[in-house]
Amino acid sequence: MGRLRSIRLSLRFIAPLAITLALLAYGLVPLVDRLTLRWWVNDLDTRSQLIANTMHDQLADLVAQGAGPKINSLFMRAIQDERLYALAYCDETPTYPSSLGCRPPDPTGEGHSVVRLRQGPLHVVQHPVFQGTERLGSLILVHDMSFVERRSADTRRYLIGMFVVLGIVISLVTVFIAHLSWRGWVSGVRALLRGEGIVQPFGPASSSEDVHPLASDLRALLRDLDMTRRSRDQTANWSPEMLRGVLREQLLGDEVLVVSNREPFIHVRADKEIELLRPASGLVTALEPVMRACSGTWIAHGSGSADHSTVDRHDRLRVPPEKPTYTLRRVWLSPEEEKGYYAGFANEGLWPLCHIAHVRPIFRTADWEQYVRVNRRFADVVCEEARTEDPVVLVQDYHFALLPRMIRERLPGATIITFWHIPWPNPESFGICPWREELIAGLLGSTILGFHTRFHCQNFVETVDRFLEARIERESSTISYGGDLTRVEPYPISIQWPSEWANDQLPVALCRAKVLRVEQLQDDVLLGVGVDRLDYTKGIVERFLAVERLLELHPEYVGRFVFVQIAAPSRSSLEEYQHFESRVRTLAARINARFGRDGYQPIHLKVEHHPPQIVNEYYRAANVCVVTSLHDGMNLVAKEFIASRDDEQGVLVLSQFTGAARELHDALLVNPYHGEQCAEALYRALIMPADEQRVRMRSMRRLVQEFNVYRWAGAMLLDAARLRNRRRVSQRIVEHQREATPLPE
Ligand code: F6P
Repeated sequence: MGRLRSIRLSLRFIAPLAITLALLAYGLVPLVDRLTLRWWVNDLDTRSQLIANTMHDQLADLVAQGAGPKINSLFMRAIQDERLYALAYCDETPTYPSSLGCRPPDPTGEGHSVVRLRQGPLHVVQHPVFQGTERLGSLILVHDMSFVERRSADTRRYLIGMFVVLGIVISLVTVFIAHLSWRGWVSGVRALLRGEGIVQPFGPASSSEDVHPLASDLRALLRDLDMTRRSRDQTANWSPEMLRGVLREQLLGDEVLVVSNREPFIHVRADKEIELLRPASGLVTALEPVMRACSGTWIAHGSGSADHSTVDRHDRLRVPPEKPTYTLRRVWLSPEEEKGYYAGFANEGLWPLCHIAHVRPIFRTADWEQYVRVNRRFADVVCEEARTEDPVVLVQDYHFALLPRMIRERLPGATIITFWHIPWPNPESFGICPWREELIAGLLGSTILGFHTRFHCQNFVETVDRFLEARIERESSTISYGGDLTRVEPYPISIQWPSEWANDQLPVALCRAKVLRVEQLQDDVLLGVGVDRLDYTKGIVERFLAVERLLELHPEYVGRFVFVQIAAPSRSSLEEYQHFESRVRTLAARINARFGRDGYQPIHLKVEHHPPQIVNEYYRAANVCVVTSLHDGMNLVAKEFIASRDDEQGVLVLSQFTGAARELHDALLVNPYHGEQCAEALYRALIMPADEQRVRMRSMRRLVQEFNVYRWAGAMLLDAARLRNRRRVSQRIVEHQREATPLPE
């Protein structure tokens, strides 16, 4: 390519030069020779005429006198002139025959001629000599013309020199213009390949600058419209394929990195075997199918006892084990780091702070320092894993409030989508955190900051307004802080649809039979289930109290109604959680003691980890699923229960303080703090006719199907693609403006 280019350039240089020289050799020099010869001949004609006129009278007298020697001396004096080479007089009486000579050649018939002799070219002219009217003879004047040749040679030299210089100049100018046009063309093609529009290589500078951003703007606008159309038209069909399409078409296949504290697969050592666990985590439930579709890298804390033994030397492994589609990058934390960052600042500080569940947040400087340190460690790993300068980074949850800004500082081109999975409280509540400003500023390093509900978005915006000097555009939900623009939007999280187990799960009747067998229950039992981490925000105590109240108010259900609580142990190193577990155990035991009898216990408390497919069987076996969180960002248990019920039976009792309550209007909504109301809702659920159950369940299933997790991720990624696109356009406009504005002298 480069060689070809230099050959072309050389040709552009040589061609004009060669053309100039050829013109010079074959056209111009002979023409100039001819012209100069004519000028000189004319000049000599005039000169000869003058000399002849001057000599005429004297010569005529001398001829008349017959004074030959005097004529000779007259001629000798005359040829003193340096150019007059020779003179002759031809005697011509009227009877003299012209064929006898003494007449110069006159090929032109114009009375003059140039004769080439050995001594060089000569100019020869004949003038008549008269005495009165009688013609005596002719005076022949011969001029030397060698000087004409000398002067012509000089002129030719000057002329050739001048034309060679001119040729070189023209060649250089041609090469220069050609070079500019080549560059313009190349950058035009490059720009087109980059999809940046048409660069006009020869167009006036201003028109190119005007057209270029305009074309890009138009393209950006069209892409925007396309995205909006997609999200509007295809709402009912969000699937892994569609999500992959968004990544491919809208994000141009850019790399996706997810960062969360909890990992999607945990390897633990059980006896001598290594066991694989799927953690009880709403975040993992939601993101795992998304990552299967996106095939990126998930960066998370490696917390399992056998995690070290299952990674490669870069701390990576391909997951899910049965069909690897993405990479899990594990990050190791020391016990002190885990204690300070995870247990301390995140779970004793931020968790109760954001949930307002009447547990006092605890803030310690040492925990904060570990939190900063671990956030920095994860920022390092993000930069390590990023293969490009502008990856899409999905930062998850309250463990990483500082991470967005840390990433932004090191990867300014990254699109950072942060999702806060838990509630955001009002400014007064948040304001008790000693590091509130740092946390908010950290989050405002995000391109997009997502919450489950608009209410939480508003709380966040109010908090920023209260504690930071930032520019808030409520109309467009954007916050401008420290030169970064963050869009704050609600993205209600959801679950995979159809569920992972949809194809090979047992029929509902068999699930029920299996669960009843495991729980040692009669066939006609009315079964309630609750599935939670053992966490004080989940309202498990309130739920048990509601069961107790139901049995008090409706004693006919004693012996008939059983409530199975699956409680995954969680954060058990923390005192608050230990107390909570013992409170739950004590309460269950008390209620069981009060209403239990031979072979019957109204509450089955199962404090252990259950694999998700087993949990799914409990959902399918239940008459009622109870979610009574005191405060919850979304709560995906409610949606999982709905997804599991393809028989369109079963009732959902749902706390009004969950994000899910904003979407699932066909659930029986309750205030978990109100025991009687909850007991009444339980009762209503147990007596609800099958038809009503079907209508409610069908409507909720349609909603969860439509607003599934692919749509959740797709909505954020589409918004990110839009912002990315706009950022690219505005960067280009700024660059163009900078190029167009001359620097001050
Ligand atoms: O959904 C909220 C959340 O805190 C997630 O961030 C987390 O993965 C999950 O609950 C379980 O908590 P943990 O990871 O502390 O066990």
